[in-house]
Amino acid sequence: MKNILFLASEAVPFIKTGGLADVCGSLPKALDPGYFDCRVMIPKYMCIPEEKRNELKYKTHFYMDYLGQSRYVGVLEKEVDGILYYFIDNEYYFSGNRPYGNWYWDLEKFCFFCYAALSALPLLDFHPDVLHCHDWQTGLAPVLLKDRFAGSEFFRSIRSVFTIHNLRFQGVWDIKTIKRFTELSDYYFTPDKLECDRNGNLLKGGLVYADAITTVSKTYAKEIQYPFFGEGLEGLLQARDHDLRGIVNGIDYEEWNPKRDPFLPANYDSASFRTGKPEVKKALQEELGLEVDPNCMLIGMVSRLTDQKGLDLLVRVFDEICQDKIQFVVLGTGEDGYENFFRHYAWKYPKKVSAQIYYSEEKSHKIYAGCDALLMPSLFEPCGLSQLIALRYGTVPIVRETGGLKDTVEPYNEYEGKGTGFSFANYNAHEMMASIRYAEQVYYDHREAWEEMIARGMEQDYSWKSSALQYQELYDWLVER
Ligand code: ADP
Ligand code: GLC
Repeated sequence: MKNILFLASEAVPFIKTGGLADVCGSLPKALDPGYFDCRVMIPKYMCIPEEKRNELKYKTHFYMDYLGQSRYVGVLEKEVDGILYYFIDNEYYFSGNRPYGNWYWDLEKFCFFCYAALSALPLLDFHPDVLHCHDWQTGLAPVLLKDRFAGSEFFRSIRSVFTIHNLRFQGVWDIKTIKRFTELSDYYFTPDKLECDRNGNLLKGGLVYADAITTVSKTYAKEIQYPFFGEGLEGLLQARDHDLRGIVNGIDYEEWNPKRDPFLPANYDSASFRTGKPEVKKALQEELGLEVDPNCMLIGMVSRLTDQKGLDLLVRVFDEICQDKIQFVVLGTGEDGYENFFRHYAWKYPKKVSAQIYYSEEKSHKIYAGCDALLMPSLFEPCGLSQLIALRYGTVPIVRETGGLKDTVEPYNEYEGKGTGFSFANYNAHEMMASIRYAEQVYYDHREAWEEMIARGMEQDYSWKSSALQYQELYDWLVER
């Protein structure tokens, strides 16, 4: 039996701002439970919904010196679907109505989290063989394992893995500040360690000190070794190429199952989507106030509204696309400019465009199921889960060929009758528009080919099955080497 501990800033079903939470909530369940005891540790944010917070059970508490003060650290726990979640409690750090949002404060908050998490371990009757850290918020932990905590055998035997979900966010501030929050000595602030462009960089700590690095698709693992995607860390990633693996994400096939989805007005699978999907589409058009027309191609987007998601391409040509016979729905929140852009077009074309500017699990299920196509023209995309969900729901993805989008959507080939979606290579608005129009053409003029593509997409396997095996193999390798 091997013990694995995920250390992360978010995990479903407790707190989610993006795909990181989906991964941390679903991968542990996919590991072989006869061989891996995988647990998850996240902060106990005050913004975890109250009914969920009330279910957490007190485990222990202690006081820890951090930044010259004695700080309370509570540990709570809760089992969900056989996975034990631990929560680090400290109301000073984890209050507020969002898990993050203020860089300066977040740096201190997550340095505290890493210290508290490691300090709590000996009190939990659980010795992890592998500490699996996710994104910059946990970048300090692999450093601490080799520094402050390296004195005892308990910690010395713990191996660490660091997974990059998004290299854009690194936890950067001037060296003086990062030195203070990390309580690390000058030794660590050189360009081969936590220094990057004369700043302190927490993610870099994780990349330098973790025993292995993974990221969430094979293509992104290659892309980040080049300057455009490497965000200043490409040199380091090239140097660690040997320890860097790309393992594509899966999705939770229980949660995302059109055959048994309780949010849908009709359920369907790859044999029955021809009758099931139109029912969901009709209900969705009604709900959104769009014209109810089974024959109008409905394109959806479920996304954080940031430049990562390729929205600048849409801004450029959206009016033109709206002249086509299509409908469009977006569900997302993010930068004001993008939110207002969609609101504007929903006002301008009320029967054609719907802007749902909020977060809703339920609405996302209905959109994934009720749309004909899902647009994801990302500037970069480490993996992307939306396109995987779309495939499972028989919604044809239209994507840019980058990161995980490239690895998971096979471009349609009309001559060989192959492919699961439409894709374009360059970050160019008219290339995107040409892809959308190609999709329209197949949808309107070759419905049989369109439906065969839906069936091929629905039959792909993007559950965690094969990716979980790759993580298991990595954990075995780390522990046994
Ligand atoms: P990222 O992690 O970069 O945001 P992913 O595609 O990996 O992108 O994951 C996004 C996840 O967040 C998906 O599960 C998607 O359905 C969900 N999501 C994004 N925005 C919303 C929203 N407004 N309402 C509900 N779910 C959303
Ligand atoms: C990040 C990436 C996204 C990925 C997710 C989960 O948020 O932007 O592409 O799917 O993490 O790994």
